[in-house]
Amino acid sequence: MNRLLHTPEGVRDIYNGEYTRKLRVISDMNQVLYDRGYMPIQTPTFEYFDIFGQEIGTTPSKDLYKFFDREGNTLVLRPDFTPAIARAAAKYFTNVGETIRLTYNGNVFINNSSYQGRLKENTQLGAELIGENSLESDSEMIEMLFKTLKVSGLEDFQISIGHADVFKGLMEAAGLDQEDETQIRSLIHNQNRFGLEEFIEHRKLSSELTQLFGILSGMYASPDEWESYKALAKPYPMIANALEYLSSLNEKLASVGVDSYVSYELGLISEYTYYTGILFSGYAFGTGEPIAKGGRYDRLLSYFGKDAAAIGFAISVDDLMDALSSQANDIKSSDSERYLTVALGKGRLADKAMEYFERIGMPCEEMKDKKSRKLIFVNEEKKMRFFLAKGPDVPTYVEYGAADIGIVGEDTILEESRNIFEVLDLGFGKCRMCVCGPESARTLLEKQELIRVATKYPKIAKDYFYNKKHQTVEIIKLNGSIELAPIVGLSEVICDIVETGSTLRENGLVVLEEVCPLSARVVVNQVSMKMENERITDIIQALKQVTEE
Ligand code: PRP
Repeated sequence: MNRLLHTPEGVRDIYNGEYTRKLRVISDMNQVLYDRGYMPIQTPTFEYFDIFGQEIGTTPSKDLYKFFDREGNTLVLRPDFTPAIARAAAKYFTNVGETIRLTYNGNVFINNSSYQGRLKENTQLGAELIGENSLESDSEMIEMLFKTLKVSGLEDFQISIGHADVFKGLMEAAGLDQEDETQIRSLIHNQNRFGLEEFIEHRKLSSELTQLFGILSGMYASPDEWESYKALAKPYPMIANALEYLSSLNEKLASVGVDSYVSYELGLISEYTYYTGILFSGYAFGTGEPIAKGGRYDRLLSYFGKDAAAIGFAISVDDLMDALSSQANDIKSSDSERYLTVALGKGRLADKAMEYFERIGMPCEEMKDKKSRKLIFVNEEKKMRFFLAKGPDVPTYVEYGAADIGIVGEDTILEESRNIFEVLDLGFGKCRMCVCGPESARTLLEKQELIRVATKYPKIAKDYFYNKKHQTVEIIKLNGSIELAPIVGLSEVICDIVETGSTLRENGLVVLEEVCPLSARVVVNQVSMKMENERITDIIQALKQVTEE
C-alpha cells in the first residue's frame, strides 16, 4: 500500500505554513485587482482541445494533458487561462464597445518532460482587460501587474516590455521566409546576439536594415537608449510606430511611478503567437524563469466570434512563492553586492575557460591549485564565484539560477535542452558530433534499414535520425567508450563526438555522417540576464573580444 502514498511526478501536496502563505498572497493579490474593478471569473479545469489548439497559438499539443469524453471528443486540462477567458468573454459579454475587467486564479497543467524539476501543475493568478485597445489600458495592465507583485511582498523585480510589431516589422522589411524567421526566433530566444549579427550579415540586407536588427539584442532602461535606432526605423512604419508607442507608454508609466521597475526588451517574443501589441515578462531572483507573462491579444477573441481587443497578464504563483522565500533568505544572509556565479564544465574546457576569464581581468588564482579540495573559488575584488561541475550538470545549475553563467560544450546543451540562454560561441573545444561505424554500415544507413545506434547522447541521436533523416532507429544509451559498441556487436553504428579521429582510426571505424559541429559555449540564466544585464553583457562582450584576438 505504501506505493499509493506519494503523488505522481510533477505534482505535490502543499500544506501547513507553506499553503497558508500561498493563500494569503493570492488573497492579497486578488484584493488589489478587485479594488480596481476586476471581477472574478472561474472557467472549467478542462476544455475542448480546440480551445488550446495550434490555430490559437498556445501551448504545443505534445505538452497538453489530453483525454476523451464519452462521445469521443478530445479534452485537455487547461495549460493557461487566456484562451478559456477569451472563449467565455465572447460567449457572455456580447455588448459592443463594452469594457470588461476579469480576474482569475486556479491551476494550470503542462505535461513537461520528466526530470526537469518543473512542476506539471501550477497555480496562476491573472487579469484580463477586454474591449479596449489604448495606451491607458496597456499602462493599466502593467500597473496592475506591478501592484499585485508588490502586494505579495516581492521587492526586487523587473518587468521587461517589448512590442510584437518590432519583430514582425523587421521580418517584413527584410522579406525573410519562414525558415529564416524560425532561425532568428531561436537565436533571439537564446539571446545569442552575436549569432544573430552573423546570421543577418549573411542575408546581405541594406546596411541600415542590418543595423536596425541590432535593436533586437538589447535591454533598454528607457526609450532614450534606443534613440539611435529611431532614424533607421523611419522607412518602416510598423517598427517606427511600435517604438513611438513604447516611448509614450514609458511616459505614462512614469506618471504612475512604475517606470523604475520597468525595462524594455525589443527582442521579446513569446511562444504564444496570439500576442499582437505590447508583451511583457516579470523577473525576480529565486526562480530560473519569468514569474509573470502577458501581452495584448487583439485577435484572439475573434476565434470565438467576438471582435474585441484585449490585454492580460498571468502570474505563476508557485514561482512567485519561490522568489519570495529566496528573497527572505538573501536579506538574512547579506545585503552587500551580489556575487556572479560561473559554472565550468570539468576538464579541458574548464582550463581554457579560466584562461579566458583571466584574459578579461577576472582571474581566479585559487582554482589553479590542483591539490585544493575546495568546491567554490572566489574572486573577491570582482565579486565573482567559480565552481566546477560535470558537463551535463552545468545547464542544470544555470537553468535554476544556482549559477548565473555557465561554460559548456554545445553537445551538452543540445542533449540537456534546458531553458537557458546560449549567448556566445567561444570557438575552442571544437569537435563534431558524428554517426560512426565500420565502413560496412554505410549501406545500412543509405538503405534506411532498421539499425541500432549506441550513444551517450540519445536526444541528439533521436533528433537527427527521426526529425532530420526521418529514419526509424533503435537507440541504446551508453555512458562511455561508445566505440566499443559496434566492435562487440551491441550496435551497428554510434552517434558520438569526434575530435582528432584517432579513437575511430585505432578501432577500425570511420565517420559515416556528420550531425553537427560542436564547440564551447557561454550560457546564461534567463533571470540573471535581466536582473544583472549590465555586468553580464560586459562579460560576454569581453569574452567575445578574446575570441577575436
Ligand atoms: C570522447 C568521445 C570519443 C573520443 C573522440 O570520449 O566520446 O570517444 O573522445 O576523440 P578523438 O576523435 O580525439 O579520438 P572521452 O575521451 O570524453 O571519453 P568517453 O569515451 O568515456 O566518453
